[in-house]
Amino acid sequence: MRLPELCLVALVGISGSGKSTFARRHFTPTQVLSSDAFRAMVADDENDQSASSDAFEALHFVAGKRLRAGRLTVVDATNVQAHARQAIVQVAREHDVLPVAIVLDVPEEECWARTQARPDRDFGRPVLARQARDLRRSLKQLAKEGFRQVHVLRGTAAIDAFELGYEK
Ligand code: GTP
Ligand code: MG
Repeated sequence: MRLPELCLVALVGISGSGKSTFARRHFTPTQVLSSDAFRAMVADDENDQSASSDAFEALHFVAGKRLRAGRLTVVDATNVQAHARQAIVQVAREHDVLPVAIVLDVPEEECWARTQARPDRDFGRPVLARQARDLRRSLKQLAKEGFRQVHVLRGTAAIDAFELGYEK
């Protein structure tokens, strides 16, 4: 896969699909803006969902500043809902930067097993099931939403084999 040297990448995947792991592996820490980090910044708690609105407002603001400075930026959030992705496409457009979606499509069972093993996550199975439903719906919509590239990595093997390059 080749990304434009300057783009705004939306990672898309349910909780436990490996977005943050993927981001750490393929991008530098400062390229990655994670919803968890922004929730922690505004509310002292990365799991405080009531802080999401302020957290995303701050995240999009910082993303805009980075894009204006010509810096590739990655949004590490589930992005399984259309309104979340729409905000990302809008920030990219405002700064004349291409929005790109990278989908980590991992079976819900696998994500649930991983989630149960995590000390930093304590939501119930229905939350994950809803994300999985939203993701299924999303897969049909992504290209229509304005993303200039949509890459869908299906399963752990495809995610492991993934190699990132840049357009020259
Ligand atoms: P949220 O932040 O909750 O949305 O999850 P996430 O998509 O960022 O997942 P994260 O990268 O935090 O990974 C969740 C758990 O799965 C962690 O314990 C990881 O170590 C593990 N994990 C991530 N990728 C892989 C993988 O490719 N294989 C295996 N076996 N475990 C993985
Ligand atoms: Mg994460």
